[in-house]
Amino acid sequence: MKKRPDLGKPIPSSEITPKDVYLSRRQFMKAAGIAAAGALLAACTPQETPEPLPVETDTPPASQYSDELMDPATSFNAITNYNNYYEFTVDKERVARLAKNFTTTPWQVEVGGLVNKPRTFSLEDILALGAEEERVYRMRCVEGWSMVIPWLGFPLSALLNAVEPFGSAKYVGFETVMRPEEMPGLKDYYPWPYVEGLRMDEAMHDLTILSTGLYGERLLPQNGAPLRLVVPWKYGFKSIKSIIKINLLEEQPPTFWNMLAPNEYGFYSNVNPKHAHPRWSQATERRIGENMRHPTLMFNGYEEQVASLYSDLDLDIYF
Ligand code: MTE
Repeated sequence: MKKRPDLGKPIPSSEITPKDVYLSRRQFMKAAGIAAAGALLAACTPQETPEPLPVETDTPPASQYSDELMDPATSFNAITNYNNYYEFTVDKERVARLAKNFTTTPWQVEVGGLVNKPRTFSLEDILALGAEEERVYRMRCVEGWSMVIPWLGFPLSALLNAVEPFGSAKYVGFETVMRPEEMPGLKDYYPWPYVEGLRMDEAMHDLTILSTGLYGERLLPQNGAPLRLVVPWKYGFKSIKSIIKINLLEEQPPTFWNMLAPNEYGFYSNVNPKHAHPRWSQATERRIGENMRHPTLMFNGYEEQVASLYSDLDLDIYF
């Protein structure tokens, strides 16, 4: 049985499908203005989304994975054909096709800033840390839909510990690769590169992983290959894709959606059903592949594990 995060209930090995079953920035804001940013975010509104169309590829059969709440995993097809990856396109159902030939090898990640041993890791170096495991997490998009995803990955803390952060490091900043010749969406008027950030204690939390795969296979480009962040108690946009830089910092770093619309997307962006987005409620969510809406859970259902990180914060102010 593979290692799982400690989420209260043990997961019987009978629920784990054997692998062989599966076949296989600020200046910008000044120029653009807040009103324009609202218009740019038109694609980021909750819509009654149609079910993704099945694609004609060798896709794994319906999963026997489920999360610790016994919610079944979303199909491989949906996870890999209904994506937000604006560097390619804002059209969720075209990301997979446009990202198909995105080059993910060789890949390097520069980890530096307030650390004792700054280092550029190849993907192979990262995998050699030997910390990969399987985690089945819910992912709640700020737009009002969600999926259950069986990730392969390892705690971000394993990588951060390897570079020996200074005590003065209070935040971690992340940056996505920019490759205009392969990423047609970079022509769109957004404050590229896509950047994200976490507080140091959030980054070191055991639930926070860098993902290298899903459904037991290496990540496909549309899901952020070869290395993306996954922070399951935060809205999906915090889970930045195709990371090339990780920087340990004293000050809170700027983040992509917060730069675009600070009143809509906070730095923290913890899933919170009681804190409505200015343009829609966050009380419920549409689980992709199902018809019924689910109630949205505080911290996306990970309250027991993470609420203590925020005991001193008013979550309506630090949203
Ligand atoms: N990372 C980058 N670089 N670019 C993006 O557009 N979209 C975010 C996040 N990470 C995004 C990104 C959003 S809004 C969501 S909901 C998730 O990725 C979607 O991840 P998925 O396509 O693997 O489901």
